Amino acid sequence: MKQFESFGLDTSNECLWRRDEQITLPPKPFAVLRYLVENPGRLVTHDELLDALWPETYVQPQVLRTYMLELRKVLEDDAKNPRFIQTLPKRGYRFVAPVTDSPAAETSAAPEAEAQAAKPAALPAAIVDRTNELARLQAHAQRAAGGHRQAVFVTGETGIGKTALVDAFCRQMGSTASVARGQCVQGLGRDEAYYPVMEALGQLCASSDGELACRALARLAPAWLAALGRAPASADGSSARPAPQERLLADLCAALEEMAAEKLLILVFEDLHWADDATVDLISALARRRAPARLLIVATYRPHDAASRHRVKELKQDLLMRRLGAEIELAALARPAVRQLIARELGQEALPPELGEFVHRHSEGNPLFAIAVLEHLIAQGILAREGANGESRWQQRAPFAEMEAAVPRELAQMIELEIERLNEREQRLLEAGSLMHVAFPTWAVAATLKEDVTQTEETCDDLARRLHFVHRAGEDELPDGTRSAFYVFAHEVYREVLYRRQPPSRRANSHIRIAERLGRIFAGREATVAREMAMHFEAAGDWQRAASALRAAARHACERQAIAEAEELLQRALRIAENLPETERKALLGVMQKELAEMREPSARSASEPLVLAKKA
Ligand SMILES: Nc1ncnc2c1ncn2[C@@H]1O[C@H](COP(=O)(O)OP(=O)(O)O)[C@@H](O)[C@H]1O
Ligand SMILES: [Mg+2]
Repeated sequence: MKQFESFGLDTSNECLWRRDEQITLPPKPFAVLRYLVENPGRLVTHDELLDALWPETYVQPQVLRTYMLELRKVLEDDAKNPRFIQTLPKRGYRFVAPVTDSPAAETSAAPEAEAQAAKPAALPAAIVDRTNELARLQAHAQRAAGGHRQAVFVTGETGIGKTALVDAFCRQMGSTASVARGQCVQGLGRDEAYYPVMEALGQLCASSDGELACRALARLAPAWLAALGRAPASADGSSARPAPQERLLADLCAALEEMAAEKLLILVFEDLHWADDATVDLISALARRRAPARLLIVATYRPHDAASRHRVKELKQDLLMRRLGAEIELAALARPAVRQLIARELGQEALPPELGEFVHRHSEGNPLFAIAVLEHLIAQGILAREGANGESRWQQRAPFAEMEAAVPRELAQMIELEIERLNEREQRLLEAGSLMHVAFPTWAVAATLKEDVTQTEETCDDLARRLHFVHRAGEDELPDGTRSAFYVFAHEVYREVLYRRQPPSRRANSHIRIAERLGRIFAGREATVAREMAMHFEAAGDWQRAASALRAAARHACERQAIAEAEELLQRALRIAENLPETERKALLGVMQKELAEMREPSARSASEPLVLAKKA
């Protein structure tokens, strides 16, 4: 037992004591605390913590912030004036309180418990099972490292573990490869060309090999560097002519090949069933080019998804046939693996006798579903942590009744049950969160609920603590200097369910409120967020304002010499304008066609015309 002030950390039973009161901590925050307490007085860097606690999984460093928040709350510690955990900004953490070993607990500890305590830390193990799949990915990486480019498709239903597998693989590769990932986002598929590609390029430029990446782009694909907002294509704008699509694609391939000349480059595209056509074209070109390159493309996708794009299937089939690619189909976990997964989630080896069988039957071996079933059992009080005197284990307290709604075969139904347990305001809050892509900031939720931001943030933090599917992911600084926390859903399927359960009229109103709030927050420089505003106006069916925001975004891109991007935005505005009534549409088309012509021929632009469009009512 490790003692600090009035707390005791019982490492063999994995629990925390405040004098005689036992405090239950989830496995991961417990492991973080344990690592800090076992390394008192010194700086523990973010990397060290992540390596120690998730040895084979890639984890966003932001999760540490979430756990620190949770730990500080439990320890009643204050970040500004820490008694226990000191934050060393951008570097890591230091446990500052003196730590002593309490002999009483040690003498009473059973030999087995002592042996356990000698293990490095309460490690949430890496992913369970999937050894074959990891080995196959490794084999492809090796071939790619030898200069034979590879494309691997990791496929399977929602929640089967595609992301978890690819994360574990990237983590294994460590620093032997540069890794960049791009997430395809639902709803952006048709229109936002190259969305995941831009994300991946941004990561490459910001990585430790960033200088190399930027140099390659500057030399071989300057238009892309400009589109990333990292450099103008040329100072005098002379090369600001739009390049044809094929040229852009070839340029980017060449730049990526240069980056992949020395060191293995792994490009991960997540959820390709939502990809835009341009991204699919890029993957196709990259996979087919002949020159040697140390390049591995890993793409995940759901083959049976209704949204699954025909083109993605075609691409995969074709690459498989030409032996340029491979498919790794993820199957459901077998019963022993489900049992291991439960043990990992609960942080305990010995499980109640029927638990593994029950979870396996109800989840059909889908890990995401298995975790949801487990959470369901805990929420119902059927599973609970019990014990005294430093002994505490998850126990079964009631028989496993068949679950409500018989067996909810669909994950969505299961999630729906979880959401219905929340109160009205909490449900509205999460629904508001689902209107944003990827992460949802507090200000957006507050705007939809017409609430004060502080109040919203408190509830968000509370939900993140109580629900297993919402995590606090970080903080943004807004232009006025205030900070706004943002949150993510553990899996996009939660976002989908929350999005779909809202009546369309409420959803539309909320989208409008978010767009308007964005405009107010970024007043004076709306152009920088115009793209995002357009997305919300479009989702709300406010075509007029969606088109006008896109035009502002196009102007902004044009100012940065990102001509191809500007043109694309205007094309999108044109498509949206198709929805307007005849007269308005004609007027707008006229203006936009002129704008398009001016972008193609910059000299045609009249000098007096302002670049940033005035806001349209
Ligand atoms: N092999 C595994 N071992 C442990 N946990 C897993 C495994 N596969 C998936 N999970 C967990 O299940 C959930 C869903 O997995 P995820 O990789 O996001 O699914 P997908 O990307 O296929 O939709 C995540 O919480 C993930 O950590
Ligand atoms: Mg995934």
